[in-house]
Amino acid sequence: MSSELLALILAAGKGTRFKSEKIKVLYPLMGKLMLHLVLDTITELKPNKIYVVVGYQKEKIIEASAGMNVEFVIQTKQLGTGHAVLSAKRFLENNQEKNVLVMNGDLPLIKPETLKSLWIHHKKEKNALTLLTAEMENPYGFGRIIRSEGHEFKIVEEKDASLSQKRIQEINAGVYIFAIEHLLKALPRISNINRKQEYYLTDIVEILIDEGKKVGTFKTFCQDEIVGINDRFELARAIEILRLKKIKDLTMNGVTIYDPASTWIDLNAEIGRDTTIYPSVIIEGDSKIGKNCLLYPFAHIIDSKIADRVRILSSTMIENSTVEDDVQVGPFTHLRPKTILKKGSKVGNFVEMKNTRFGKGSKAGHLSYIGDAEVGEKVNVGAGTITCNYDGLNKLKTIIEDGVFIGSGTELVAPLKIGKGAYIGAGSTITKDVSPDALGIERGKQMEKAGWARRKRKK
Ligand code: UD1
Ligand code: CA
Repeated sequence: MSSELLALILAAGKGTRFKSEKIKVLYPLMGKLMLHLVLDTITELKPNKIYVVVGYQKEKIIEASAGMNVEFVIQTKQLGTGHAVLSAKRFLENNQEKNVLVMNGDLPLIKPETLKSLWIHHKKEKNALTLLTAEMENPYGFGRIIRSEGHEFKIVEEKDASLSQKRIQEINAGVYIFAIEHLLKALPRISNINRKQEYYLTDIVEILIDEGKKVGTFKTFCQDEIVGINDRFELARAIEILRLKKIKDLTMNGVTIYDPASTWIDLNAEIGRDTTIYPSVIIEGDSKIGKNCLLYPFAHIIDSKIADRVRILSSTMIENSTVEDDVQVGPFTHLRPKTILKKGSKVGNFVEMKNTRFGKGSKAGHLSYIGDAEVGEKVNVGAGTITCNYDGLNKLKTIIEDGVFIGSGTELVAPLKIGKGAYIGAGSTITKDVSPDALGIERGKQMEKAGWARRKRKK
């Protein structure tokens, strides 16, 4: 038997039970698309080639998988899993002597080790077909393995099963390895005479056995990995399994997570040793957090790079931004895309930043908006400072050089440059550049009307 393997993922079905406009294999689980999780797992088997059967919303799947090493096979009408395999006939015919792993696209939790064991078993037994099975506490929805005397067995789908068959707990996981020549001979014999009037791939078990071919099963003892995601409750269950697995991996690698139940960390996120995560923290996308950081409750980090010894105080949102070593940010800070907080800087309560480079050791402690700005080192931004960066048409830049002191309640009307070491008087609306080491101040004259308040009270 050839030891060469192809892979065929079935992903053409709409996923009717999802009740969604979007095809189910494009739903994300902990930041990764269902189909991509399956592809990652299969890639570990190093098959010669991976084919994906697509149909419903095929353009979206092809677009989402750009750059991945797969070939698409079109199933024009979704007439069942057997029909889906048949649509790849032409590709299989060129590889008669090889084997093919056929896998449902809605099985993102299958472990690579399980697929490897299935493949080894298939080769050892020289089977025409080896299928993955499991004993499920609750087998509802799965095709049941109905065994009779001797080695014979068949698969009966939930909808077609009798009451006593429904009680059987041994199920078909939806993962098969075929010797391609035998698969091709048996495929045309599959009929659609069943409750769903679909061509069931699972009928091929009986057909191959009938033809005297060797069909075997390989059982996995991990029920978690064969969650077939048919509806959104199963999606939620699968996400929960992946979420806890990620948390376990991180804690095993030296991250402290106080409350796994309320912590969400996407699969692609990385966190360094001795970082501590308080309850209710969310870290999404390709975020990277360094060592010895502290993330307090309700920190929400998306696609951002956080270096070492950073403190992120409560209720802080950081999107597509970079935070360097020894920074403190929050509570209630919002860093919008393209913000860079340089080493040792401090950004505090109710401060929003966007597309801003905030220099080494600079501080913006309270109630400010800094957008499209370049802020030098050791700058002090007073409470309530606002960069007026938008004139209704264009976004304009504010440059604040090293060592500048900006008094509280200042409006900086861009485009604007505040020279090195300058001071801005509190309450100013600054519309013109300020020279280095100068004081820029813009204020109305204060008046005083003696006794005015007393007279008002007497009225
Ligand atoms: C299938 C199996 C069942 C098994 C279960 C494991 C069949 C008939 N039944 O049932 O025995 O226990 O998986 O999870 O195979 N698809 C296509 N084209 C189609 C129909 C489906 O590509 O015409 C794809 C779907 O996108 C999906 C996969 O095949 O990724 C499985 O289809 P699904 O309808 O989810 O099958 P199940 O009812 O779960
Ligand atoms: Ca399914």
